[in-house]
Amino acid sequence: MDISKGLKNYFTTQLLNWHRNDNDRSLPWKNEQDPYKIWLSEIILQQTRALQGMPYYLKFTETYPSITDMAAAKDEDVFRIWQGLGYYNRCKNMLATARLVSNEFGGKFPDTYEGIIALKGIGPYTAAAIASFAFGLPHAVVDGNVYRVLSRYFAIETPFDSTEGKKQFAALAQELIDPEHSQGYNQAIMDLGATVCTPRNPLCNQCPLQKNCVATRQNMITLLPVRSKKISVATRHFNYLVIKWNGMIWLHKRTDSDIWQNLHEPMMIETSVAIDKNDLLQNDRFKELGLQHAIPDYAGTGTQRLTHRIIESKFFYIEMKERPVHLPEDGFWATPEQLAAVAFPKTVLSFLRNNLYF
Ligand code: ADE
Ligand code: SF4
Repeated sequence: MDISKGLKNYFTTQLLNWHRNDNDRSLPWKNEQDPYKIWLSEIILQQTRALQGMPYYLKFTETYPSITDMAAAKDEDVFRIWQGLGYYNRCKNMLATARLVSNEFGGKFPDTYEGIIALKGIGPYTAAAIASFAFGLPHAVVDGNVYRVLSRYFAIETPFDSTEGKKQFAALAQELIDPEHSQGYNQAIMDLGATVCTPRNPLCNQCPLQKNCVATRQNMITLLPVRSKKISVATRHFNYLVIKWNGMIWLHKRTDSDIWQNLHEPMMIETSVAIDKNDLLQNDRFKELGLQHAIPDYAGTGTQRLTHRIIESKFFYIEMKERPVHLPEDGFWATPEQLAAVAFPKTVLSFLRNNLYF
């Protein structure tokens, strides 16, 4: 790709000026110096929007002011705070990294790009963010915001999710960064993508790049950025039996082989299609549970979107007079106190909360 030096220089200069004078996006991790807190914010923001991640960031930094505090915490407590953010492997990796840094590196966060990217749960984007924000190292971040801003300003039609596109955008971003101001540059391009050059209806009239933006001139904004692969999203149907006996609800902990590892849930029967109460009564798995004499009450639905899945949950409430004896071995009867102390997937949590089980 041949892009003129002038177009590139204008980009970097304008972006940094905008950041100094007009970028009024205020986020609690901005201008933070502590690598632990920067790392924490970047882990939280990996698959979460800034506004949604903010309360989690504040809660974590308040509960664990340093990485050694987090390293010393009980797994269950950390998971409990993470609850609602999803993608629980992130939480697991975060805790493993906190313990590694605390126990092996004497609590000192690695201060080189190579040292940072070697940590669990950290890819090129997160490593570049931490390296620049915490240590001023000249590594350009490349995320969805960056693909959008660069593809539009330079009118680049290479699909950003192709091998070639990834290489091309990474090289261009690295070329554009001002090595003396890597923090400001990285923060600016992400904030511009989040607040001005937004996916739909970008605010070009307020954009510091508008004068030279190629997509604006060529009327290509809605076509960019180009993605090669369609994201395929399949639906799974989770049918929850909220079984109550003696003031307690039956729960078990999800295991390692599927989504929502280590989170708790009521009895669940997965089906390939959506079912109703009558289908449930005919379901073989349901029959095995020995709940025949109870009448399930349909109690609501929940939808949760993951990257490649939609989870449609249906909740059935079942009140038992006698203790059911055929439930699986891996579960337990949770008191209201226990319900409040363990971590749940988001959908399950909102169902339980809305129905005042705790
Ligand atoms: N997303 C990820 N990191 C971010 C940051 N430092 N500022 C704004 N949005 C972000
Ligand atoms: Fe994005 Fe519009 Fe700015 Fe171009 S002028 S970079 S399309 S906001």
